[in-house]
Amino acid sequence: MKKRVIGIIGVGHVGAHCAYSLALQGLADELVLVDKNQEKLKSEVQDLRDAVLYLPHRVEVRSAEYDQLADCDILVNSVGNITLLTTHDRLTEMNFTIAQVNDYIPKVMAGGFNGIIINITNPCDIVTRQIAKLSGLPKGRVFGTGTGLDTSRLVSALSQQTGVDHKSITAYMMGEHGASQMVPWSMTNFGGAPLDGLAQKDERYRFDREEMKKTAIGGGWVTYVGKGCTEYGICSTLARDVAAVLHDEKRIMAASSELCGEYGEEGLFAGVPCLIGKDGVEQVVEVPMNEAEKAEFHSCCEAIRENMRHILPQDKLPCDR
Ligand SMILES: NC(=O)c1ccc[n+]([C@@H]2O[C@H](COP(=O)([O-])OP(=O)(O)OC[C@H]3O[C@@H](n4cnc5c(N)ncnc54)[C@H](O)[C@@H]3O)[C@@H](O)[C@H]2O)c1
Repeated sequence: MKKRVIGIIGVGHVGAHCAYSLALQGLADELVLVDKNQEKLKSEVQDLRDAVLYLPHRVEVRSAEYDQLADCDILVNSVGNITLLTTHDRLTEMNFTIAQVNDYIPKVMAGGFNGIIINITNPCDIVTRQIAKLSGLPKGRVFGTGTGLDTSRLVSALSQQTGVDHKSITAYMMGEHGASQMVPWSMTNFGGAPLDGLAQKDERYRFDREEMKKTAIGGGWVTYVGKGCTEYGICSTLARDVAAVLHDEKRIMAASSELCGEYGEEGLFAGVPCLIGKDGVEQVVEVPMNEAEKAEFHSCCEAIRENMRHILPQDKLPCDR
């Protein structure tokens, strides 16, 4: 039988919670953890092994070096230094995180890794692109959690406002996993009924949309202020991405994907609805947007490009690879 092997590079707050989520949900038969902090790595391996007897599923947990990840089906990238985020701007981590991936992604690939990489590390869209470039993996096989977590925050806020269950709401945060993200309100719907129509009849659906967007974006910082990190939201997002790949679900959810003409954009990764299956992002799904929303999405993409210019050479990532 083929074992499902998931590697995680960086087992800080986020990586450790991702490992626990994957173990608890029975999504991995084997977890392979890597961290440059050897003491922390040893502790996380031990703590997870100590849980196995009482978990619903069996899982093996071990540590490894960057070049020992060839048997991983999926690699989760969650390195970082969360203390750098006290500025409340994900970009302040960029100099550190880009330097890290520049160092170890070539080592991972030299070790023979040939699976799918899901990036969490911030700034998510830019680091995902850098990993895609360094890895040389085919298009779609590297993607980021992107606005997947922000979408979950938005749906949570919409559920609280309307009383409708999360899973009956179709809504997306799109663009940058950062300050400039946007909501295509005109396609937002509740069980297929458009928000715009519902708002004409029912006051629960009449709310300040800009405020709602700000609440959703601010959710991350509410979590960060009290605990110095975010954990449950992101590890749940990651676990859904992993399940979609492992079970070839063809599930549509927001993720950071390369854009090659979709939404009239190219040369960057951004948060968009993606069809996710065994080959990673298999299709970018283009949802209908009105003219104002299209313009807002383009300005999100411009913000990502502007941030990329700070650190990376303006190199091309060919779409036909
Ligand atoms: N995309 C999202 O939605 C989202 C959500 C939450 C956090 N994040 C990001 O995830 C990253 C991790 O956050 P965290 O709270 O776990 O940070 P953290 O500081 O708690 O942990 C980072 C871990 O990475 C390790 N590390 C650093 N450089 C490494 C390297 N070169 N090789 C191996 N390990 C290395 C550190 O030793 C540490 O254990 C950050 O970039 C954070 O901003 C993203």
